[in-house]
Amino acid sequence: MRQVLVAGNWKLNGSLAMIKTLIDGLKAGMGEGTQAEMAVCPPFVYLGNTLSKIEGTAIALGAQDVCDQDNGAFTGEVSASMLKEFGCRYVIVGHSERRSIYEENDEFTARKFAAVKRAGLRPILCVGELLDEREQGITEQVVARQLDAVIQKTGIEGFQDAVVAYEPVWAIGTGKTATPQQAQDVHAFIRRRIAQHDQAIADRIRILYGGSVKGNNARDLFAMADIDGGLIGGASLDSEEFLSICKSA
Ligand code: PGA
Repeated sequence: MRQVLVAGNWKLNGSLAMIKTLIDGLKAGMGEGTQAEMAVCPPFVYLGNTLSKIEGTAIALGAQDVCDQDNGAFTGEVSASMLKEFGCRYVIVGHSERRSIYEENDEFTARKFAAVKRAGLRPILCVGELLDEREQGITEQVVARQLDAVIQKTGIEGFQDAVVAYEPVWAIGTGKTATPQQAQDVHAFIRRRIAQHDQAIADRIRILYGGSVKGNNARDLFAMADIDGGLIGGASLDSEEFLSICKSA
């Protein structure tokens, strides 16, 4: 049985005041009503502050990105071991905004994934196709290429304790969600692709869906056999909306 994971990707949003309101809201509303594991991924500079606010709760901490190198002359970068020291359990790698806006390719993403594993943290590897790629009917090819780059780098063992997030790029921040069946089809494909290398890892790995998940569509998505939770952008900035997604698990 895979425990549902709902991770909030705050992106380039937040302030000390906003984080206080958000975490207070989550703590007040968490109660018993959720089976899901909840995680929040603030910008780097707020990790310490967020950690101090969630300590002693069931909320896990994650980072949005990481350096592919462990230490040294890499101005502006943050390493996985630093994230570990600040209490992170998860690290998002290969988010489509990193891939498209910052031109990070599959190989570079695979190196970041490997860096997260070296530090003993859990990568959340984002994969997903552009609208144009879906329309060309090459969604599976794109997702396979993104997965294979990581498998080639770390071996399938790298996926032990890792998380995959399927995020169709056309659904991110657009209000356009994939239908549960569209998402399920790709999730099943991802699991099959991993199973070609290791059935046990494929059975255990959590595959999250991301892209305009809200309180009102989460239940139908999470009901699908291969959807094990969500990576939530916009809706993770509002405690009530985020809690309602978590409670849909
Ligand atoms: P969204 O973002 O929920 O705002 O669509 C999801 C993501 O980018 O992880």
